[in-house]
Amino acid sequence: MSLMNRHEIFEKNSIVLTVGVLIVVAIGGLVELVPNFYLKSTVEKVEGMRPYTPLELAGRNIYVREGCYLCHSQMIRTLRDEVERYGHYSLAAESMYDHPFQWGSKRTGPDLARVGGKYSDQWHHDHLVDPRSVSPASVMPGYPWLADTRLEPTDIKADLQTNRLVGVPYSDDMIDNALADLRAQSDPDSDGVAGLEERYPGAQVSAFDGNPRELTEMDAVIAYLQMLGTLVDFSMYDDQADVNLR
Ligand code: HEC
Repeated sequence: MSLMNRHEIFEKNSIVLTVGVLIVVAIGGLVELVPNFYLKSTVEKVEGMRPYTPLELAGRNIYVREGCYLCHSQMIRTLRDEVERYGHYSLAAESMYDHPFQWGSKRTGPDLARVGGKYSDQWHHDHLVDPRSVSPASVMPGYPWLADTRLEPTDIKADLQTNRLVGVPYSDDMIDNALADLRAQSDPDSDGVAGLEERYPGAQVSAFDGNPRELTEMDAVIAYLQMLGTLVDFSMYDDQADVNLR
């Protein structure tokens, strides 16, 4: 039987053809996907990335709970218009401690990957309570209860432990001090600030919602928003960004 004749089996029998196509496509898929799980360079190392502080992590949980990702992405694409509007395109390393990641797929509002430092804490407070008080044409819903709801951080230690289980490098020291660090970050006068800054370099300490005495969900959400995109120093990447966009 010549090679041409053997090919007839595939051409005359749709089931055999379908199975054959599936096998060939599966091999092609594996060749493309599998190396990504073994290459060391899939997530390039960058300076400055650290795990979320307990307060930022609590804020992130509220961000997920309230469904902010339904209107906001956190991934700046490698396109000139995006980079000019939002800043340096997102790096894989910037979401390596995100479980689950918050890249999102819809932008009713702007991308938030680099919103940290763009506005004051007060602006975020007013915006979250009533978006139209600072952004008159906004269609974003208000989240006024965040300001009145006490943050109940009883499970924060377990949260850090769970994140460690999936690969976030929280140390025993970080886990033991989770509750103290969470309180210290929203109280600039607290004795715990030094320990917090040692464990989480660059952590921003502030009375985020304006009241350092009471810990609210608003504190946590603002702490989270204010750190987004601020960890990596991009001055050393700027040349590269220019080349890639040209
Ligand atoms: C229904 C869609 C929608 C939802 C849900 C939503 N937003 Fe927004 N958001 C918007 C729109 C639209 C804007 C732009 C207008 C404005 O500034 O309010 C915006 C703006 C923002 C900004 C300012 C961004 C910038 O660069 O100017 C922040 C910060 C923000 N939202 C945070 C949040 C958080 C936190 C949540 C969840 C608690 C949330 N949003 C939920 C639609 C939404």
